[in-house]
Amino acid sequence: MNLFHDAVRDARGHSHSAPLNKNSDHLRILDVGTGTGRWAIKMAEKYVRCSEVWGIDVSPWQPERIPPNVKFQYMDIEEPWQGLGSESWDLVHVRCMYGAVTSWPQLYENIWNCLIPGAGYIEHIEIDWQPVIRTTPTGQRKNCADVEPALYHPLSVFPFWVRSFYDCMDAAKRPARVDSAATHAALYHAGFVDIREDTYLLPYNSGDSKERFPRIFDDWIEGLSLRPFLETTDSSFNLTVVDQMIIDSRHELATVQYPVFCTM
Ligand SMILES: C[S@@+](CC[C@H](N)C(=O)[O-])C[C@H]1O[C@@H](n2cnc3c(N)ncnc32)[C@H](O)[C@@H]1O
Repeated sequence: MNLFHDAVRDARGHSHSAPLNKNSDHLRILDVGTGTGRWAIKMAEKYVRCSEVWGIDVSPWQPERIPPNVKFQYMDIEEPWQGLGSESWDLVHVRCMYGAVTSWPQLYENIWNCLIPGAGYIEHIEIDWQPVIRTTPTGQRKNCADVEPALYHPLSVFPFWVRSFYDCMDAAKRPARVDSAATHAALYHAGFVDIREDTYLLPYNSGDSKERFPRIFDDWIEGLSLRPFLETTDSSFNLTVVDQMIIDSRHELATVQYPVFCTM
């Protein structure tokens, strides 16, 4: 998770996009589903003199040695929110929570209620695992218009993995599919305005050994796969089939002759 934080920060070039009020002497920043707390800790370090940063999570993944302006609290974000206060947060950050949340409209409503009216921001970051390729490669990886789905030969198993993964998550009522229009609608319905969407590319493969994401995904694909595929009612997935699909996907991504990306 810490490596993932660094890969995301590198791809975005910054840790947050929301314009925080630099004149405030007390920013309140909340990280929902904080994981190892890396983002919360980095934000607390960045705004050490003027912020209080909380990370909330059901699991105690977080380190014990933390900056004095960080606090971790254990709570199930799908239960009624208590103890966070209302209308008092400047920024709420949500990252990589697809698959963990059953009702996004409810979560957005809870976030809306705890933000400072008219001044608070939500920042929500998710990965769309659908592999894409670039049609006119350039260096820039933000809001690129020159991408298209990498659905065909020589990539065949991995796009199947992505489709099947999304189907299994849908069946488990924990959607992981990125649906931009539905997200905009749910945010708007919760009350948010001035909604902005940025897209970044993260490489599944790269000749550059400094790129973190190819190694992260090679490691993650197994953890992402096992529960959704083995708990689904679709009996065509058993451990042998899923293991083979993971091996073949890894092989495809490692050997394909052109750069393949996911989007964030
Ligand atoms: C994929 S990790 C993302 C961690 C972090 N946001 C990041 O981007 O590095 C998902 C996190 O959500 C937490 N989580 C899942 N369901 C949750 C729930 N219902 N309430 C609170 N935390 C939850 C998990 O414990 C895990 O730490």
